[in-house]
Amino acid sequence: MVVLIKQLGIDTVTSASPTTATSAKDDPTGFRDLQPLIENALAAGCEFGNGCPGRLGDAMRYAVLAPGKRLRPALVLMAAEACGGDLHEALPGAVAVEMIHAYSLIHDDLPAMDDDDLRRGRPTCHIKYDEATAILAGDALIAQAFTHLSENVKDPISAATAVKTLAKAAGPCHLVGGQADDLAAEHRFVDSGDAETADLPPNGESAVAALKHLESIHQRKTGALIAASLSLGATLGGGTERHRSALACFAEKVGLAFQVVDDLLDLTADSTAMGKRTGKDAIKGKLTYPGLLGIEGAKTRAEDLIREAQEAINVFKERKWRLSSLANYVLERQH
Ligand code: IPE
Ligand code: IPE
Ligand code: MG
Ligand code: MG
Ligand code: MG
Repeated sequence: MVVLIKQLGIDTVTSASPTTATSAKDDPTGFRDLQPLIENALAAGCEFGNGCPGRLGDAMRYAVLAPGKRLRPALVLMAAEACGGDLHEALPGAVAVEMIHAYSLIHDDLPAMDDDDLRRGRPTCHIKYDEATAILAGDALIAQAFTHLSENVKDPISAATAVKTLAKAAGPCHLVGGQADDLAAEHRFVDSGDAETADLPPNGESAVAALKHLESIHQRKTGALIAASLSLGATLGGGTERHRSALACFAEKVGLAFQVVDDLLDLTADSTAMGKRTGKDAIKGKLTYPGLLGIEGAKTRAEDLIREAQEAINVFKERKWRLSSLANYVLERQH
C-alpha cells in the first residue's frame, strides 16, 4: 500500500492511516484530505497509451484534469470508507465516475446542447479544441471509464458489478435520458414562481405534473451518477445490504438536492465564482426548481432533502461524518 501511495505522489500519508482527517472538526467539507488522492489517481488514469492521437488525449485530459470539485469521486471514497473498506481499493471507481462526469460535461456544453463557452473556469472543450474533437473526447472517456474499472478492480465479481452500476447510470434511462428530457422540456413549462398557481404549461400539464417531470429529469441527468458513486463505493468497500440501502436513500436525496442547488446557483451566483456561465437556464427556457417554486421554495426543497439525507446514514454511526459533512456542503456550496 505504501508503494501505491508513493506512486500516487501522496508522501504524507501512511498505509495505516491513508488520510489525516478523522472528524468534521478537522475537515468541514468532509473531503479536503481526499482530494490529493483523487487528483493523483485521475492524472495516473489519464495516460492513454500508444494509439491515442495526441490531440484527442490532450482534449480528454483537458476536460478530466480541469479543476472540478470532484464531488462524485469523493462520494465513492466516502461510501467505501463508511462501509469499512479501504480507500485505495475504491480509487478505480472514483476515477471511472469522474471520467463519465467529464464526458457528460463536454457534451452538455456543445452547441447542440447547452451551448456554453466556459467550464471549470476555462474555455469549454469544443472552444479550446474544436467540436469534432470534443465529441470524440467525450466518446473516448466513456469507453476509458469502463476500461479503467475493469483493469483496476482486482476482484472479478466486484469489477463486473461496478461496470454494470456505472453503465446503467450513464445510460438511456438515466443520465442520457435525463439530458434528452432536459432539452425536450425547454420552453414547455411556464415559470410562475409558485407551483400552486402556476399557469398551465402550453401542453396543458398541471404545475404538479411539471414538478414531477422536473424531479424525474434531475434524478436521471444528475442524481443517477451521484447514486452510482455511492453504490460503487459500497461495492468496492465491501458494504452490506444494510449499508447499500442506507446509501441508496442518501443518494436519492443528495443527488436531487445537488441539482436543485445547481439551478439556484445558475440564478444567483456569478459566472466567475462558478467557473461557468450563469443566468442561462431562464434564457434557454430550462425547466428548473427556482423556475417552478421560486428561489425560496427551491431553497426549502433542498434543505428538506438534505435533512432527509442526514437521517438516512445514521446506520454508519461515527463513520458517517464525511457523508454528513458533504451533504451540508451540497446545500451551502457557493460554486
Ligand atoms: C456540474 O457538476 C453538472 C451538474 C450535474 C450540475 P459539478 O458542479 O459537480 O461540476 P464540477 O465537476 O465541479 O465541474
Ligand atoms: C448537466 O446539468 C447535467 C449533466 C452534465 C449530465 P446542467 O446543464 O444544469 O449543468 P451545468 O449547469 O451546465 O453545469
Ligand atoms: Mg444541461
Ligand atoms: Mg449545462
Ligand atoms: Mg446547471
